[in-house]
Amino acid sequence: RFMLPERVLYHFKEGCEKEAAYFQQKLENIFSIKTAAVQGRKKRQVSFDIDHNHISLFGTEGYQLIINNSGIHVSAAAPAGIFYAIQSILQLMEKDERNYSLPYTEIFDKPRFSWRAFLMDDARSFKGAATVKKMLDEMAFLKMNVFHWHLTDDQGWRIQIPRYPKLTSVSSGMITAIPGKTFYTQGEIRDIVEYAAERHILIVPEIEMPGHASAAIAAYPELGVEKKPVTMPSGQGIFENIYDVSDTSVIQFIHDVINEVKTLFPSGIIHIGGDEVKYRPWENSGRVQAFIKQHKIASPAALQQWFVNGISRYIQAMGYRMMGWNDMLGKQHDTQQPTIPEGLAAETIIHFWLGSPKLINTAARAGHDVVNSFHEYTYLDYSYKSISLEKAYSFDPMPPSLDTALYNKILGLGCQMWGEHIPTVEKMYYQVFPRIAAYAEVGWTSPDNKDFRRFKNALPHIIAHWKANGISIDPATIE
Ligand code: ACM
Repeated sequence: RFMLPERVLYHFKEGCEKEAAYFQQKLENIFSIKTAAVQGRKKRQVSFDIDHNHISLFGTEGYQLIINNSGIHVSAAAPAGIFYAIQSILQLMEKDERNYSLPYTEIFDKPRFSWRAFLMDDARSFKGAATVKKMLDEMAFLKMNVFHWHLTDDQGWRIQIPRYPKLTSVSSGMITAIPGKTFYTQGEIRDIVEYAAERHILIVPEIEMPGHASAAIAAYPELGVEKKPVTMPSGQGIFENIYDVSDTSVIQFIHDVINEVKTLFPSGIIHIGGDEVKYRPWENSGRVQAFIKQHKIASPAALQQWFVNGISRYIQAMGYRMMGWNDMLGKQHDTQQPTIPEGLAAETIIHFWLGSPKLINTAARAGHDVVNSFHEYTYLDYSYKSISLEKAYSFDPMPPSLDTALYNKILGLGCQMWGEHIPTVEKMYYQVFPRIAAYAEVGWTSPDNKDFRRFKNALPHIIAHWKANGISIDPATIE
């Protein structure tokens, strides 16, 4: 084993300054080990070597980690690879009576998928910035890289939009797991985005449209089809408060919100929801029906596609990409409804959650990139009885029905912590941990190397880490 000295000397090449600083901070804060950076050819125990020429070997997230009698040597082609090597180093450290040491090893490691996401639903039940940061820390530990942040829904609007102050003064939602204000200010969001970026985590904000819009319509009734005050629901369900997409001032509101969201989130991707739209208000509205006729739109499902394609063009024009749930394909709830002839804009990332996994084939063949969050395997709000740890681990984002020619259209997977049934942060942790570790491995490890027994044998080490961070696990969830 390689013994770390009392004072660790480390060297890093240009381009991974932030990662080296993160490493130093972790060694000092968690392990109370002193460190010093050294330059030139001086003796060192740890080296971080970044060389962009190796990108075809490592990708942006892969790394090589060699631990031998001369020390710890990391190579990668990009900063994210260095960051993940650091996570592995931190996890390999073990203490005897006096010193920390690491086993001699040679690891070449890179992820199977580029999209390894965790969704947190702050709209249904608000959890606050401290919890978000804790989740980002745990995602980094598990080498997950997308935080999908569900910020608006029927039960609450949790993101400050200064131009529309009532969104948060009226509609920031009653249900909260923490005392105090129940939305995120723009300053808090910027801080969280930066915190995530330091951990190589992309934050993809989700702003729901045209359904799941009760909170917005409760704040500004003119956004709705009936232009009448509505009450924001506090219970669970799918509600009929949908945006009046035939009204140009409603489209303007949505554009304004998207502009704000874009300035806050450098992710390059905006998730617009698009799921579970109850079309009845559009069907019952003379004005919307006249609009549908005038524009030769064949059905409410087609109107949704017409609307989201317009939003997609708007998002694309700002250099971003749109993402949404697979309902937007029009093939889920309304198989009998005609959609628009040109279909959904091909650059839209389809987020599969509901229906036959064959829909993934359909979406990929139509040119869409796909993230697989099939609810039967990846919904963290489901009980351990319906999704056991082993079932979570067994998930394959590439369904057997997928044509091999379309494999490159699958970006990866998400696991979703919906907020209706998690009144406290503790209850959320109960649902999330340990299953999130299984999803992290599904996203990272190639199927040939997956092994549930090995995963389970390694769990006590991870559980000890969680426990040290104030997250306890119910042993029953591991059975
Ligand atoms: C969803 O669970 N409605 C995406």
